Amino acid sequence: MSQDFDLFQVPESHELLRSTVRSLAEKEIAPHAAAVDEEARFPQEAFDALAANDLHAVHVAEEYGGVGADALATVIVIEEVARVCGSSSLIPAVNKLGSMPVILSGSEELKRRYLGALARNEGMFSYCLSEPEAGSDAASMKTRAVRDGDHWVLNGAKCWITNAGVSEFYTVMAVTDPEKRSRGISAFVVEKSDPGVSFGPKERKLGIKGSPTRTVNLDNVRIPADRIIGAEGTGFGTAMRTLDHTRVTIAAQAIGIAQGALDHAVDYVRQRHQFGRPIADFQGVQFMLADMGMKLEAARQLTYAAAARSERGDADLTGFGAAAKCFASDAAMEITTDAVQLLGGYGYTRDFPLERMMRDAKITQIYEGTNQIQRIVLSRQLLK
Ligand code: CAA
Repeated sequence: MSQDFDLFQVPESHELLRSTVRSLAEKEIAPHAAAVDEEARFPQEAFDALAANDLHAVHVAEEYGGVGADALATVIVIEEVARVCGSSSLIPAVNKLGSMPVILSGSEELKRRYLGALARNEGMFSYCLSEPEAGSDAASMKTRAVRDGDHWVLNGAKCWITNAGVSEFYTVMAVTDPEKRSRGISAFVVEKSDPGVSFGPKERKLGIKGSPTRTVNLDNVRIPADRIIGAEGTGFGTAMRTLDHTRVTIAAQAIGIAQGALDHAVDYVRQRHQFGRPIADFQGVQFMLADMGMKLEAARQLTYAAAARSERGDADLTGFGAAAKCFASDAAMEITTDAVQLLGGYGYTRDFPLERMMRDAKITQIYEGTNQIQRIVLSRQLLK
């Protein structure tokens, strides 16, 4: 009987990984998080610390030179980094997002070349799906890829691209047959150094200010034909299957941010005295903490269940990935908002990290598909 209960426990190896990443994050990432946000600069210290410890792209399989972390271990790494700095957690998260199309559909040659380069830290990976007029309706994209002899020539603009400019490698979804809508979209690897690639100005955002978000412009970008990921016309399916896996990593980012906020709030209410006693003694405060803890644990359990499905490649991952991302990000927004409330005026200032966490949490309800899109994805699974 007890063995059955063990099935619901995070393995000891994963808890060990958590404590290793937590102590690294507290020592080398947390001290810079406020400045990274304030100056809206790339978290170079976090990048260096993660890369030095092989934590920048843990999902890359050992056969391609990576450390071969499973989906749950990847979630734990992202969660622990996000607990101290949301921007920095986008390093391991977006490296997975950008490279997942290659993992799912790429040729052996592409996998060896690009996953190897990612594992060796020769460059980060970004994912280019959205366009100015094609956000939630991703299949309405206009970026074109036209075959020309042994090459493809790409033209268009991809927007809201996380880590654009700092990444060396980009998976780009582009139309190869305009008559076929989603079945006429193909995926490609584009390199930053390919002539014709340029970047728009950094978006001025509410949160995750340390992670640059820019438009990637493709102006007659000529790439070798073997940079297509999978067969022509399969790019939209690859893009969607990628998001099935990586929405779980956004859920991880959300629960990490929420855990950071809850930890700070708990410390604060123990120390803050009003009416002659710590405010933690008041039941109104206790009930708020209980709700925050309950939502966070429910979000974590759903995220880990989705990670297990991602690892196994289960058929119900699409619904689980959408549900985990949606539930965890909504929970993170509520928990960080309540954490600010518990600190009162102090929570509203930049002297404490809570307002940053609240601003960082907001994006998790928006990117990798808005939570309205997640509800569409999930209800389609229920109704089909
Ligand atoms: N797995 C495999 N195939 C899938 C799939 C999945 N999860 N979802 C859809 N498909 C396939 C369908 O089976 C269908 O294939 P066939 O034509 O062969 O049958 C094809 O894709 C088209 O599917 P739909 O008809 O369902 O497509 P749709 O146009 O109705 O759109 C959608 C569906 C779910 C709304 C989709 O457009 C979507 O997810 N939109 C949100 C986009 C999104 O998440 N963007 C985030 C950008 S990335 C980002 O934010 C990161 C960053 O860097 C900022």
